[in-house]
Amino acid sequence: MDRKRFFDNIAHEWEKEHQSPQEISRLRHLVKYFPLKRGDNVLDVGCGTGRLIPWVRAAIGDKGMLVESDFSREMLKIGKAKYNQRNICFIQSNGQSLAVKGRIFDVIICFALFPHISDKLNALCEFRRILKPGKPLVIAHPMSREELNYLHSRVNGPVTQDFIPEDEEMKRLFEEAGFSGLSIKNKKSLYIAKAYA
Ligand SMILES: C[S@@+](CC[C@H](N)C(=O)[O-])C[C@H]1O[C@@H](n2cnc3c(N)ncnc32)[C@H](O)[C@@H]1O
Repeated sequence: MDRKRFFDNIAHEWEKEHQSPQEISRLRHLVKYFPLKRGDNVLDVGCGTGRLIPWVRAAIGDKGMLVESDFSREMLKIGKAKYNQRNICFIQSNGQSLAVKGRIFDVIICFALFPHISDKLNALCEFRRILKPGKPLVIAHPMSREELNYLHSRVNGPVTQDFIPEDEEMKRLFEEAGFSGLSIKNKKSLYIAKAYA
């Protein structure tokens, strides 16, 4: 089974599993690290069922724009049914080749996606291509690299080898893609890598 079908198949279960108060509190903690401002144009790549939407919307306000992008039709369907707001749009797209022209985003959030991308360098180049100069890409997980990598190694299916790379490899990838100022925070219940286009 390929990853796209894997995520299509788990979309409903994913949505159900992530509604608990504990999950919401983990998210509340994580979003504090997102550098969002009123009026920002934001891309949430690998958005799944859109669980970041309320937090991002609250930060960017009515004048900002939020693009929710994922390659799984089933994940997007759930998000679209829940959120029908003027400044949110949903696009079905592979994170490795985004159907977006030009440098239009103030922030790209890559939440619980990066390990699943097979060509990470290509994806980073894509993110940089569409970020405004000097603006941030944030890769975020509500767990440490070690916790995440262990979790994936226990899952049967196409994600079993989907790992967050070690810091040295992250540095190499970000540099090759043309990002600067990479910082990595890796601790219990939190992984944040941030760099600037
Ligand atoms: C672990 S889920 C996280 C979803 C969401 N960010 C969240 O935390 O609720 C990973 C998501 O990334 C999507 N995804 C995986 N690889 C992708 C790719 N190459 N391009 C676009 N989306 C991808 C999956 O369909 C899935 O919705």
